[in-house]
This record gives sequence, C-alpha cells and structure tokens, in this order.
Amino acid sequence: MGKLIHVVVGARPNQMKAAPLLKALRQHDKFEPILVDTGQHYDHEMAGIFMQQFGMGAPDFSLQVGSGTHGEQTGKILQRYEALLLEHPPSATIVIGDINSTVACALAASKLQIPVVHLEAGLRSNDRSMPEELNRIVTDHLADLLWTPSADGDENLLKSGIDQSKIIRVGNIMIDTLVSMKSAVEASTFLQGVKIHHQEFAMVTLHRPSNVDVPETLNILLDELKAVSLEMDILWPLHPRTKARIQSIGRMDELIDNPAIHLMGPLGYIDFMNGIMHSNCVITDSGGIQEETTWLGVPCITLRPNTERPITISQGTNVLASPKTLQSELIRLRKEGLPIREEIEYWDGKTAQRCVQSLEQFLWR
Ligand code: UD1
Repeated sequence: MGKLIHVVVGARPNQMKAAPLLKALRQHDKFEPILVDTGQHYDHEMAGIFMQQFGMGAPDFSLQVGSGTHGEQTGKILQRYEALLLEHPPSATIVIGDINSTVACALAASKLQIPVVHLEAGLRSNDRSMPEELNRIVTDHLADLLWTPSADGDENLLKSGIDQSKIIRVGNIMIDTLVSMKSAVEASTFLQGVKIHHQEFAMVTLHRPSNVDVPETLNILLDELKAVSLEMDILWPLHPRTKARIQSIGRMDELIDNPAIHLMGPLGYIDFMNGIMHSNCVITDSGGIQEETTWLGVPCITLRPNTERPITISQGTNVLASPKTLQSELIRLRKEGLPIREEIEYWDGKTAQRCVQSLEQFLWR
C-alpha cells in the first residue's frame, strides 16, 4: 500500500488545481491519495460540477463546514479537520491556494506534526486587507514543502525568511487542467445559447468583497458595465455573493432588462472556459482567471489595485484597473491591442508530474 496523502479542497478555485495532482498521485503506486472536501463551497455549481467534469470522483471525506464569518468558517474547518487527522493520519497534507480551508487545514496538520505541502505557494499581493493574503502568509510559514508557480513566488518566500531547501518551483498546475480539458472546452456549445447583440463580447466575473460589498463601489461598477454594454455584450456568470449584493441595492431588474447584458448562474469549467476562450476581453477580480487568460492570450482587465500574480502583467495579457477606470482601460486596450506575450516557464501542463516527483523526494529523503 502507498503512503496516505490528503489533498484538501474547499472552494471553487481549488478544484482545477487539485484535479491534475490527484490524477498524477493516483497513477503512482507509492501514493494513496485521499480527497478531503471541507465544503466551504457547497452548491453543486460552485463545487460538485467541477469534480464531475474533471473526473475526480466523490471526496473520500466531506467536512461540510458551509458559509460563515471568516473566524467561524476557519475555526470549524480547523476543528473538523483535526478530528479527521486524528482518526486517519496521512503521511502528508497537501493544501492548495489561499482560501480559508488552506490555512485552517495547514494549521491542523502542522500542530499534529504532519508534514504540510502548499501548492501555489509564494504568491503575494502585499495587500493585507485581502483575507487571501493573510491565508497565504500563514500557510507558507506553516508549510514544510512549498510548491511555487513562478520565480516571483520563490523570491517572495526567500524574502520572508523561508529556507531555500523547502521551495520547489513546479509551475502552474491550473495550466495542466486547461491543457487536458482543451478539446472538451472547444467542443462546448455554450455560446450557441447566448444571443449576442454586438460584434464583440466580454466575459465578466466579480466576487471580491472590495468590489461588491460596498454599495458605492458596486454602483460605480454597474454604471461602468452599463456603459461598456453600449459597445460590447457582457456575459456575466454571477457569484452568489455578487448576486445577493446586486439584489440588496435594487439594481437586478435593470441588468436583466438590458439586452446586451447576459446574466447567468455560476458556470461549470467547460462552458466557462469556452466563453473565456472566445471572448474579446475578460473583466474580473479573480486570481486564477488572470493566469488562464494569459495562457490563452485573451486580454484581461483585473479590477483590483494589485495582483499576487504580477507575471500575468509582465509576461501576459493582464492589466489592472479600478472600477472607475474600467471603461477608459477597455477603450485603450481595444485601440492598442494585446501586449506582447511570452511563454512562461513551467506553464506547460506538466506541473502535476513535477509535484509528484518532488513529493517522492520529500517523503523518502
Ligand atoms: C472564496 C474564497 C476566495 C475565492 C472564492 C471563489 C476565502 C477567504 N475566499 O470567496 O479566495 O476566490 O471563494 O469563489 O476562502 N455561497 C453560496 N454557495 C456556495 C458558496 C458560497 O451561496 O456554494 C455564498 C455564501 O453564503 C456567501 C457568499 O456566497 O454569502 C460568498 O462565499 P464565501 O465563502 O464568503 O467566500 P467567496 O466570496 O466565495
């Protein structure tokens, strides 16, 4: 029997990173991977559909923590994951990204002296008002093995005093998923179901508290998107947080009545990436989408003052904008075209293989 390895997922952005890793671990007879789902995201379209589309299989353990304040959610995960670890201790726990599940499970394992591996380590926005930044900092300091996607990640870790010997640059695991799902994405008929009015369309995703939780900012954003919709259609799969906030400021009907704005529920990976691939531009505040658009060569406007993924600006297709400058940034982008793009080292679809090699070296050192 192989060594038991926990792979922890909790929310939507974890699934596309866990899938290729799980697959590679399952193919290796030295490992017995166990999928642990904390249930931070619980709606089928926020979680289950991804596991289905990626063929991950059902989780071996579901902690079913659900929503709550940050303290509540993080605390519940810590408590429930500790109980699981005590009953079924693995040889290592792999946590992914920067969500509350990442930090909570890293802490639970670390306190029980179970080695913690952090996939997507070293990212920094240097903005401590983002809950994800706090999760990144704490998780990186708890981890025994840190898998980074790019050189800036290594530098951030070294600067924060983490020993070089713990840092392994494996590359961007999300690109593994994009590579393996490419033909399914291309075959999606998603766009046939959308009646586009203009020549061009933008895919929009927004969920960050800094953009959607403050009514004044959300109002500015909606006004800007309305202005954009005079020239481009907007396809907007609504995150549950955003849907609730738009409803609470009473502007949902106005969006529904606009024929160039197409609101929809959260999409599965295949339809979503099909939309991204064919869009003229993406407007987002997500982390991962900045990377996916860079790899696909689609222009991306990120509505944030900073990014923990600067390589998507220096070597990719990403630009930062504020809600107030969205429209002017879009005009500039359409006039000037795409920035020059370079291939990024290790964004090659082979990251999961490098992770597995690294884990083997780590556990049999
Ligand atoms: C979380 C992650 C964020 C990630 C995002 C992707 C943290 C700190 N944040 O933010 O890093 O980019 O996921 O989606 O971990 N809800 C549902 N159904 C669900 C899940 C949530 O209705 O399946 C509702 C919740 O009740 C809540 C809102 O959506 O009102 C937001 O969920 P929350 O868990 O607060 O975090 P996200 O904004 O999704």
